[in-house]
Amino acid sequence: MIGIFDSGLGGLTILKSILTKLPHYNYIYLGDTARAPYGNKSQTVIYGYAKEAVDFLFARGCKLIIIACNTASSKALRQIQQEYLPAKYPASPAGGSDKKVLGVIRPLVEEIASNDKIQRIGILGTRATVESNAYFTELHNLKPNLEVFQQAAPLLAPLIEEGWLDKPETKMILKKYLRPLKAKQAQALILACTHYPFLLSDIRRIMAKRVFIPDPGKTVADSLANYLSRHVELNIPLASAPTVQFYTTDDPNKFKELGEKFLGQTIEKIEKINLLSS
Ligand code: DGL
Repeated sequence: MIGIFDSGLGGLTILKSILTKLPHYNYIYLGDTARAPYGNKSQTVIYGYAKEAVDFLFARGCKLIIIACNTASSKALRQIQQEYLPAKYPASPAGGSDKKVLGVIRPLVEEIASNDKIQRIGILGTRATVESNAYFTELHNLKPNLEVFQQAAPLLAPLIEEGWLDKPETKMILKKYLRPLKAKQAQALILACTHYPFLLSDIRRIMAKRVFIPDPGKTVADSLANYLSRHVELNIPLASAPTVQFYTTDDPNKFKELGEKFLGQTIEKIEKINLLSS
């Protein structure tokens, strides 16, 4: 079983690509909709939420968890990998059975850094993601001479959740956020928030045509396929009739309504859970 965790519904854009690339696994999707958005919250709070999500997904039988949320990947992933997992889920003495948690930052950063023509990179994300400097740091770890320009876009995720994709107000706000990145002549743009792929065509239109803008879902799905092929010891069974179980921390009907739009397919069954007591 593979777990996909997001602050809410946005991670369904990542799940959608993963299901296309890797359809033969069983998945659990957890959207912490009761406490979303995470984008303006502090590191301590986001880390606390992420730990609860990780515990829930491991308790449900996941061996591998993808934190699909950029904000949680930026603010909590490193601490989860370096402190929480070794303390709470130490590898068995026989080795090989330990649990893994991955995020969305590394795959996107690797894709951009592998292109030698790209020198100036724009990052568009939530306030927390930008403040964390996680993309900046990861890009510089791979290539110290890259120029990285970050822009927080706190209004975009709520507008997308409102379904305001085609409203002139949304386009105006998007233009305002992208203007500084255009002015810096960014050659690539990382959509560092699960919601922004919905604005991809507008973003492409506003940015110059030659700007490289990877589709985060596809990048993460490709990277996951590669990871699984290199980590057969995780022993995640292939499923002849794959399933996706959906869990939310708030109203399942609301999750279904918007979630089907994000996922592009029907969501049959969603269970409401309480992370604190799970
Ligand atoms: N899923 C979040 C992210 O990718 C966006 C929504 C939120 O702020 O929780 O950063």
